[in-house]
Amino acid sequence: MFCKSYCAAVIGVDARIVQIEADVNDGMPIFQMVGYLNSEVREAKERVRSAIKNIGWGFPAKRVTVNISPADFKKEGTAYDLGIAVALLCSFGRIQCDKLDQILFAGELSLNGKVNSINGVLPIVLAAKERGFKYCIVPACNVNEGAIVSGIKTIGTDSLQETVDIIEKECFDEMAVPNEEWKSNYSACMSKDFSDISGQPMVKRAAMLAIAGGHNMLMIGPPGSGKTMIAERLPGIMPGLTMKESIEVSKIYSSSGKFTETKGFVYERPFRAPHHSISPAGLIGGGISPYPGEISYAHRGVLFMDELTEFKRDTVELLRTPLEKKYIEHTRNNVTIRYPSDFVLVVAMNPCPCGYYPDKSKCSCTPLQINRYLSKLSYPLLDRIDIVSQVQSVKYASINSQDKDIYTTSYIRERVNAMRSIQNKRFNNDRITLNSEMNLFHIKKYCVLDDECKNFMENVFEKLSLSVRGYNKILKVARTIADSEECDNITINHLKEAVIYRSFDRQIKEVM
Ligand SMILES: Nc1ncnc2c1ncn2[C@@H]1O[C@H](COP(=O)(O)OP(=O)(O)OP(=O)(O)O)[C@@H](O)[C@H]1O
Ligand SMILES: [Mg+2]
Ligand SMILES: [Zn+2]
Repeated sequence: MFCKSYCAAVIGVDARIVQIEADVNDGMPIFQMVGYLNSEVREAKERVRSAIKNIGWGFPAKRVTVNISPADFKKEGTAYDLGIAVALLCSFGRIQCDKLDQILFAGELSLNGKVNSINGVLPIVLAAKERGFKYCIVPACNVNEGAIVSGIKTIGTDSLQETVDIIEKECFDEMAVPNEEWKSNYSACMSKDFSDISGQPMVKRAAMLAIAGGHNMLMIGPPGSGKTMIAERLPGIMPGLTMKESIEVSKIYSSSGKFTETKGFVYERPFRAPHHSISPAGLIGGGISPYPGEISYAHRGVLFMDELTEFKRDTVELLRTPLEKKYIEHTRNNVTIRYPSDFVLVVAMNPCPCGYYPDKSKCSCTPLQINRYLSKLSYPLLDRIDIVSQVQSVKYASINSQDKDIYTTSYIRERVNAMRSIQNKRFNNDRITLNSEMNLFHIKKYCVLDDECKNFMENVFEKLSLSVRGYNKILKVARTIADSEECDNITINHLKEAVIYRSFDRQIKEVM
């Protein structure tokens, strides 16, 4: 008898519906599987055969064929097992169900019939919903990944036997997990507040502007001045994710099996701080069966690279393309997989090997040593940084100061939210959300300069020998500064502050 069931293939962060056809005929006993399968999928034969036998049903000595279609892409992974087993049991006449075309099955089987976890349940449930399936039966340990998706019922199963029971009793609705209500959330790191940091008002302001406008930021300064402290407190000032963004981020974590790490659906903006020994593939993703890297895990959040000069230059340079495009593509076996990677880059470093330049009382580095140190940096990467904040040593007076620091986490977060809503309103019809995303068209429209500002910028362009990208970045940051004061127009003061954030350019260019 011929029967079919449905499953889905996870490709990158999305899933594609596949059909599993099973046919049983009299003839020489043979079990074959076709449909452009890799070895993992072909091995499903053994897992499914044993699982069916071990739940007490024999495997008939007949000619059994399974076809997984469409055949235009290579099937990988173990998620097809459950769908194959169900299609086979149906074609053997062991179970009867007229609802199989409304159900999508995904799960790996072990030899004793238990259903094991798989990667990518969230994209699978989303794809199933889009294609109009009513139910999705997935491993019980992954069922929460699908709970957020409304309009489809996600059911968890622990074993092939339990799956058969659900199908036979048709108790789909009762077994479905309750829908999880989506909620916007701020980061939970409440123990770390910006007010813990003494002094550094300029750096805190720069951090606020960076997060509000989505600008990449570099903090440069002496050891022990609070650079790492500031970075660690960024999650607290990041606005909550929208539901669309939450789903985007959760899909990345679900498809790579990291849902347990996030303890469920991702409600908070990610903050990733990879160690400087990270490999190129660890940073940008890749591999034979491509997986996402830190830049994708940081999607819609912050990627923090502490001690930038310690990272291998070649590794850092790999960030150039994703920083511009906001996604990364990996091509294997003629298939291109795209992972989103739209993050704010925050980096920290010392200005010289000892860390105290230009404080001559402490720094004894020679110009040659400083040059060698700075030449480890990637200039193209620095050109993609909008805000360079020079961190000063903390003065004793500010350590014990009784003055109230206005830059608390809750104050900055409020300001960031206000600035984000100004941007949302402005870009309502522009398909962007942040000042840092403005292209030339947007810059022309929203960064109009009067004559005084134009003259000022002409001067700056020459003096700092700016690249066009550098020039545009000043305008974008000035737009964010103007937003922080709720000004419709960019004024010369906004430009002046934005130029201060690029003054590192000159020093670096002299070295490289
Ligand atoms: N501005 C500050 N206010 C309060 N404590 C500070 C400040 N700066 C540094 N500290 C203290 O010094 C420790 C080290 O600070 P932090 O790691 O942020 O320095 P850093 O600038 O990253 O230094 P390095 O360049 O060596 O990485 C902190 O854990 C904190 O206890
Ligand atoms: Mg540090
Ligand atoms: Zn030095």
